[in-house]
Amino acid sequence: MTFSISVIGCGFVGLSLAAVCANKGIQVNAVDVDTDKINSLKQGIVPFFEPKLKEMIVSSRNNLVFSNDLENSILESNIIFVTVGTPQNDDGGINLSFIETACKTIGKSLKNSVGDKIIVIKSTVVPGTTQHLCEIIESNSEQKLGKTNFIAVNPEFLREGTAIEDTENPHLIVIGTRDEKAKHTLENFYRGLYNNKMPKIIFCNESTAELIKYTNNAFLATKISFINSIATLCQKIPGADVNLVAESIGEDKRIGKYFLNAGPGFGGSCLPKDISAFLNYSKKIGVPLSIISAVDEVNKNQKDNVIELAKELVKDLKEQNVSILGLAFKKDTDDIRNAASLEIIDKLLNFHSNVIVHDPMASKNMMSIFGSKISYADSIEKCIEGSDLCIVLTEWDEYKKLKPDDFVRLMKQPNVIDARRIFDQEQFMKKLNFRAIGLGL
Ligand code: UGA
Repeated sequence: MTFSISVIGCGFVGLSLAAVCANKGIQVNAVDVDTDKINSLKQGIVPFFEPKLKEMIVSSRNNLVFSNDLENSILESNIIFVTVGTPQNDDGGINLSFIETACKTIGKSLKNSVGDKIIVIKSTVVPGTTQHLCEIIESNSEQKLGKTNFIAVNPEFLREGTAIEDTENPHLIVIGTRDEKAKHTLENFYRGLYNNKMPKIIFCNESTAELIKYTNNAFLATKISFINSIATLCQKIPGADVNLVAESIGEDKRIGKYFLNAGPGFGGSCLPKDISAFLNYSKKIGVPLSIISAVDEVNKNQKDNVIELAKELVKDLKEQNVSILGLAFKKDTDDIRNAASLEIIDKLLNFHSNVIVHDPMASKNMMSIFGSKISYADSIEKCIEGSDLCIVLTEWDEYKKLKPDDFVRLMKQPNVIDARRIFDQEQFMKKLNFRAIGLGL
């Protein structure tokens, strides 16, 4: 069977899927309601940084059509992947407005189409949402799903910064549907896409698939908050080092070594939002997940932990020059959504510190938030020059090359906080006033 697909929502999930599929010869219609974004994409301009994405979009041009025309794209496709955002409401719950709008249009378009289309919900949605989306599609198409058109939930596990790599080599495919037809078509689609690299595939119903995605992200967040709690404990135990604790427990295969890097707390467009939506959902159905509340609380406190370290080094932060190295929520991205830097800069400004920041990619995004309240340096040297305190918040490779002497030479007072554990603490402690997340003195 030859496949022609639509991908609705051109964020990093949708674009990565569209680019990887088009690169493998599948005809792809990538659709978004944002006209400016579509016009840029038509010219090969990707509105955010994601390694390899632009190159792949440009090289797959023959199979990849960008448009705002959702209805027509659907008519031309046999699989419709929904990858629109599911942001956070003010109460912390999931905001379904984009996905509901997309499903309305899908429904209207199905009304005029010849059947056998599979609608695949890839966006992260709380359990039960797909059932609700089915109702929207059915009322707009005036036909029941499960006869000629079908629905499935197919969460993704890709990470920003490695989105293409993760889309090309997923560790797992989850297909949540009760329709045999949808099950087989999607299995065939992925077997064709991955050939001999086909990962494990798990079939389940829609709600289980929805829950798998939240449980996966919640567990990752739990690992981070867990190690961050131990990091805070280590800071009160003379000589204790969270990195050695993490390395050691990671050797136990039941625990695993990944996602145990202590830091300023998890950020980004996914984990914080999903934790909040999962909590909100669990409370609504009467099973509040207290463990997830704790994960959230630890994550919020981690920013105060960084400020506490700052106060240990510089008692009164008022009018002190504080340099921040790293603004992005992790390295290799320009994304600052829910980054620790946002809250830490806010707190420093409340203390009336003079804040100067550097990031290889994310400074422009930060300017749109803090404007002239802070200064932006275009080099590491200019950022730390003359400062009383320097805080490293993102683990960019170029920061790892810095030596204690660089700080001693450039700073007014050599006070350094390593919130990402990128420096050799012995060398740094010998030459300057050094504090690090998870390091007891
Ligand atoms: C996350 C998940 O890792 C993906 O599996 C998931 O598909 C994605 O969310 C999503 O729901 O779409 P991502 O947001 O790209 O991916 O970022 P991560 O690499 O998970 O990092 C999240 C945050 O945790 C970052 O701020 C990172 O610095 C922090 N982190 C990560 C730590 O502080 N310590 C660690 O050991 C690992």
